[in-house]
Amino acid sequence: ASHELILAVETSCDETSAAVVRGGKRILSNIVSSQIDTHRRFGGVVPEIASRKHAESITAIMEQALAEAGVSFRDLSAIAVTQGPGLVGALLVGIVAAKSLAMALGLPLIGTHHIAGHIYANELVHELVYPCLALVASGGHTELVLLESEGRFRIIGRTRDDAVGEAYDKVARTLKFPYPGGPHVDRLAQGADDEIPLPRAWLEPDSYDFSFSGLKSAVLAAINTAAMKGEPIREAALARGFQTSVIDVLTTKAVRAVREFGAKQLLLCGGVAANGGLRAALAARCEEAGIPLLVPPLQLCTDNAAMIGAAAHLKYARGEFTPLDMKAEPGLSL
Ligand code: KG4
Ligand code: ZN
Repeated sequence: ASHELILAVETSCDETSAAVVRGGKRILSNIVSSQIDTHRRFGGVVPEIASRKHAESITAIMEQALAEAGVSFRDLSAIAVTQGPGLVGALLVGIVAAKSLAMALGLPLIGTHHIAGHIYANELVHELVYPCLALVASGGHTELVLLESEGRFRIIGRTRDDAVGEAYDKVARTLKFPYPGGPHVDRLAQGADDEIPLPRAWLEPDSYDFSFSGLKSAVLAAINTAAMKGEPIREAALARGFQTSVIDVLTTKAVRAVREFGAKQLLLCGGVAANGGLRAALAARCEEAGIPLLVPPLQLCTDNAAMIGAAAHLKYARGEFTPLDMKAEPGLSL
C-alpha cells in the first residue's frame, strides 16, 4: 500500500476547500470554507463573486489544511486539484494555486474530475467492489455512473434538464425559502400530514435518464393556481408530493440499473444524499433486493477537497500525472 501525502484543492463552485489525505484513506485535514452566506442574497451562486472569494481565501485555506494535518510542504508527495466540471473562473483559482505549488515544490500535479471525487468519497470510508453503480445527486449533477473497474466510468443515465438539487432549490425559492433550499423543502415534506400526488417522469421504458423540470413546474403551477383562486397553498403536502416523486424515480432507476448491470454495490453521492427520505427509501429498496448500499458521511457528500484527494490517490498509484499546462475544463467528461 502507498502512504503518499496528497494536498488536494477543490474550488469548482462555492466552497473553497483544501485537504491532506494519506494513502487515499486517511483524512488528516479537510478544510471547507463555504461562501453560501455571500451568495444567499442573490438567490444562487454568482460566478464572478465565487472566483473572487476563492482567490481571497485559497492560500489561507491551504495553509490551514497543512497546519491541521501537522505536515509541511516538504512532506507532500503530490498536489491534486479539481480540473472540472464547474464554474470556469472558480476552477481556475484552485488550478493556479495547485500549479504554482507543484512547480515551486517540484511535485507531480493531479487534475481530478469533480464527479470522480464525489464517487471516490466512498473510498475514504468503504471498500469499493467492482462493478458498482453510483447515484450522483447534487445541485449540479444527477447521474447514474457504472464503475466497470477502477477509474473506468460509464454514464448510463443523466438528467435531461434540472439536476435534483437544482429542482429542490427552485421549488424552495417559490416557497420563499433561502438558498440553498433543498433542506427546507425536505423538512417541510417530512412534517406533512398529507400529500398531493404529482407525476413521475419515467421517460422511455428502458431509459436511465432523468427529468425534473416538469415536476418542478407542476409544483409551481399548483402554487399559482391556488393563489389565483384565493385558496390556501398546501405547501407541506406539495413538498411531500414533490419529494415522493423524486425519490421514487431515483431509487427505482438506481435499483433497476444495479440489477441490469450486475453491480455489486450501490453508492449514493452528492449533496442531495443529505435527504433523509432518499437515504431511507434507498436503504429499504436495497435491503429488499439484497444490494449493499454505501453512503459516505454527510460532510464527505457535499463539496470538499478530501474527496478530490481520494480520487487523486488512485491516479497517483497508477502514475497518472497531469502536465503543468493543464487548463480548467468547465465541461470535463468522466
Ligand atoms: O454536492 P453539493 O453540496 O454541491 C454541488 O456539487 O451541487 O449539493 C448541493 C445541493 C443543493 O442543491 C441543495 O439544495 C441540495 O444539495 N440539498 C438537498 C438537501 N441537502 C442539500 N436536497 C434535498 N434534501 C436535502 N436534505
Ligand atoms: Zn459537487
